[in-house]
Amino acid sequence: MPGIDIVRSVADLRGRVRAWRTQGLTVALVPTMGALHQGHLSLVAAGLSRADRVVASVFVNPTQFGPNEDFDRYPRQEEADAALLAGAGCHLLYAPTAAEMYPAGFATTVTVAGLSDGLCGAVRPGHFAGVATVVAKLLLQCLPDIALFGEKDFQQLKVIERMARDLDIPVAIAGVPTHREPDGLAMSSRNRYLSPDERRIAPALHRTLTEIAAALRAGRPAGEACRTAAADLIAAGFAAVDYVEVRDAATLAPAERLDGRKLRIIAAARLGNARLIDNIGVEP
Ligand code: PAJ
Repeated sequence: MPGIDIVRSVADLRGRVRAWRTQGLTVALVPTMGALHQGHLSLVAAGLSRADRVVASVFVNPTQFGPNEDFDRYPRQEEADAALLAGAGCHLLYAPTAAEMYPAGFATTVTVAGLSDGLCGAVRPGHFAGVATVVAKLLLQCLPDIALFGEKDFQQLKVIERMARDLDIPVAIAGVPTHREPDGLAMSSRNRYLSPDERRIAPALHRTLTEIAAALRAGRPAGEACRTAAADLIAAGFAAVDYVEVRDAATLAPAERLDGRKLRIIAAARLGNARLIDNIGVEP
């Protein structure tokens, strides 16, 4: 079994990256919260295709979880994650402690106005400030050439792009297409919360998004298509729909029709103990 080196401090991470830099090597960073699956590994593969060395970080970031969310039960499995990363050809695992990331006296928060407000931001207050803050720290700790994020968390990707640009963080931010199960379900660490019955229902989320895309291409307005979709999800067995919306893919501004812009159909819905999110692009 191949192994992977693990570092736990900013100083050790910087030492490793510095050594690569002196050899003229480029570096990619893949931030994660662990419980790794093929979707995460597709980010590692994208990193390997774009840089000489790939660092993955695993840190279950407390500040992006709300008080009634799943921080305590979020799966933690460092040994399995390390083995998956090694098998994928990743060069280094950065797994800092909470005390390393948030030492006593920590007082700074990065908020990205506008992009953080609607969609998941409306249902999870403070979530994107937690994400933007920890990702700013990870980018500055590692200072890679490029950092890779999944389109699966589309609003998160937009928030991070904006944050890096606004703070002049000299790291290219790249989005990677969503990796799916054969039945269309987007891979997620939270899919393991689904019972076998719920797992059978779950692909309805992606199917519903493709139906909205077809409605938009047929010239129908977004509002009507999204209302039908939300009702379909409840009929399929989802407990509640947080939102189903059509947004401009660049700005996340609401969009009503396919009118020449790239749009994104974005949804979040609850199924048993899981909150599933998904999105797809639609172009004229
Ligand atoms: P996590 O949910 O572990 O996801 C880590 C990265 O993997 C994110 O960029 C996410 O978009 C990507 N990802 C997850 N599922 C994917 C899939 N099916 N296909 C492609 N990419 C996928 O997102 C986070 O962690 C955290 O918010 C983080 C950015 C690490 C900050 O704490």
